[in-house]
Amino acid sequence: MTTVRVPAKVNLQLGVGPVRDDGYHDLVNVFHAVSLFDEVTATPAPTLTITVEGPAGVPTGPDNLAARAALLLASHAGVEPRVALHIRKDIPVAGGMAGGSADAAAALVACDALWETGLSRETLLGLGARIGSDVPFALLGGTAVGLGRGERLTSLEAAGEFHWVFGYADGGLSTPAVYAECDRLRAHEPVPWPVVSDDLMAALKTGDPVALGRALQNDLQPAALSLRPSLAAALEAGTAAGAVGALVSGSGPTCAFLASSASHASSLASALSDTAHFASVRQARGPVLGAVVV
Ligand code: C5P
Repeated sequence: MTTVRVPAKVNLQLGVGPVRDDGYHDLVNVFHAVSLFDEVTATPAPTLTITVEGPAGVPTGPDNLAARAALLLASHAGVEPRVALHIRKDIPVAGGMAGGSADAAAALVACDALWETGLSRETLLGLGARIGSDVPFALLGGTAVGLGRGERLTSLEAAGEFHWVFGYADGGLSTPAVYAECDRLRAHEPVPWPVVSDDLMAALKTGDPVALGRALQNDLQPAALSLRPSLAAALEAGTAAGAVGALVSGSGPTCAFLASSASHASSLASALSDTAHFASVRQARGPVLGAVVV
């Protein structure tokens, strides 16, 4: 039996370029792994099965990303996919924090260990990219910039630790629907090629949360707000409560708030828990490691 712990991500910058011929968008995607974790346990079994512990809404059939990861790894390594995968979810489902991608990354690492296939990190990253754009980052962790679909990763040095508060919404948003809404909103304007934010890189180097808060940027946010108008007031509530940065996480609807310290994050979390904007409020720190065997 092997258990792998894998983090959620928040996007510090999500620059979305024009839609490509394959339907994807070229991105400048600055990923940051935060301490909200799913756990995937792989146990020998006659056939591939998936069980899920936690919130509803996670498929347990072949469209589960962890199942796809196990099947892809088995076929790549030439072994039978004889594994029971048990997923303990703490990352919100369809929340914009790459929970499904995290489970796929964890399944790759867990099955590689269980089946003793000994695949290299590069091979796992390549298999991950075939499952989803955010899977390679869940293997890597830390803070990294992703180009292309977001899968061509370069790790970034970040000074110190950042303290976050996440507001989970009731019900998720579909990532393809949010990208489609982004295209619709920008249909009549030129869409520039995204570039890495210099202000963001400087803030990461110094570890200054106020500078980082100012540099946070998500091109999918207008689309998420258009599909879920209540998010505007939710973000404002965080700013009013003293967050040094506030944005929608990825395709949403989770709201990410940056605090200036761990104690500030505690007071911010309790202030936001007292509002009616969120189904639940969680505190986390980043950066943290990617998928690891525990
Ligand atoms: O790669 P993944 O399957 O996670 O992507 C989910 C959806 O998000 C895609 O089907 C596409 O609609 C959208 N997407 C995109 N451009 C990207 C990444 C994702 O349009 N770079």
